[in-house]
Amino acid sequence: MKILVTGGAGFIGSNFVRYFLQQHPSASIINVDKLTYAGNLENLIDLEANPRYRFVRGDITDAAFVDSLAQEVEAIIHFAAETHVDRSIVSADAFVRTNVYGTYVLLEASRRYQHQRFVHISTDEVYGSRLEGFFKEEDPLSPTSPYSASKAGSDLLVSSYHKTYGLPAIITRCSNNFGPYQFPEKLIPLIITNALEDKPLPVYGDGLYVRDWLYVLDHCEAIDRIFHLGKPGEVYNIGGQGDKKNIEVVHLILEILKKPKSLIQYVKDRPGHDRRYAIDPNKIESELGWKPAYSFEKSLEETVHWYQTQMDWWKRIKSGEYLKMYEKIYGVPL
Ligand code: NAD
Ligand code: TYD
Repeated sequence: MKILVTGGAGFIGSNFVRYFLQQHPSASIINVDKLTYAGNLENLIDLEANPRYRFVRGDITDAAFVDSLAQEVEAIIHFAAETHVDRSIVSADAFVRTNVYGTYVLLEASRRYQHQRFVHISTDEVYGSRLEGFFKEEDPLSPTSPYSASKAGSDLLVSSYHKTYGLPAIITRCSNNFGPYQFPEKLIPLIITNALEDKPLPVYGDGLYVRDWLYVLDHCEAIDRIFHLGKPGEVYNIGGQGDKKNIEVVHLILEILKKPKSLIQYVKDRPGHDRRYAIDPNKIESELGWKPAYSFEKSLEETVHWYQTQMDWWKRIKSGEYLKMYEKIYGVPL
């Protein structure tokens, strides 16, 4: 099967493209990515010569461009998005364009070419925050940041295309991911890379905010399962019930790196900061037989080790040098 993956040069998308091609020897993937600040071709450099993989640079909000690729494939797995809450607070413009309008463009193309599947990668943040208990798939959406609001908007569009046009679309809502190739603006890679450089570790507010952390390869396996076995029109929560307070995560990273707690710097809180995200993954576990395979502590250690051994990768990102990678591979500037 030939699949269009959007946002495959980002963190989860690049892990997924590699995982999916390894798991399915007859599958081929076109990876379409705009290469925003978060997209990095270096993440998939090992696949450049793979005949089952093709990278095409482009914007999912460009309907003619999307159309030209959609007609070549049988399914879309849609990761492309603006993803960082703090950036959405500074300016929501690109979030609305890419996350809402871009999803609409893809849905239209998928409908036109009667694709067999449209998997929309969403987030647990669309449910909003709750202090106790766990959100289920049928709970109302109550997003609070411009990021989560734009993702909720895209979720509603996706489900409308299933109900109105019968598009075989599925929505996944995953908790916070971590692992290799995560852009070092998100909590875990930011703390690891700052600690490695003995720089201050910014902890927002009181540091007692709670996130449910899932290793990225567990997420990839869940998406693969949903792609093949999930029921069109359904929503699937994906989470590891690995609730941790932010400060606990920071302490664990410092322990692994043997760095002092004095690096921690409590800073001003994020506006509208959601106290706790928590989802119930029972549906995917009982209906599709998925369960996380990686323990939080062990995979955090492996992730720290990955950033320790991939200094060039994240130093090039932090210095902005990675943007030159496109020119190196394709001979034209980004
Ligand atoms: P990321 O920011 O690392 O990557 C996003 C990718 O999308 C980048 O490669 C970027 O260049 C590309 N992109 C952005 N705008 C585009 C456009 N207009 N056209 C084409 N490509 C564009 O994000 P991520 O963390 O890998 O997240 C991937 C998806 O998973 C997102 O939809 C996100 O909402 C969802 N998600 C992420 C997490 C998490 O913890 N990271 C958790 C749950 C769900
Ligand atoms: P983040 O990785 O941005 O993911 P999200 O906000 O989408 O869950 O942040 C995870 C948690 O860590 C969140 O509660 C905000 C907090 N945080 C910090 O305390 N310091 C930081 O430097 C960052 C980036 C996040």
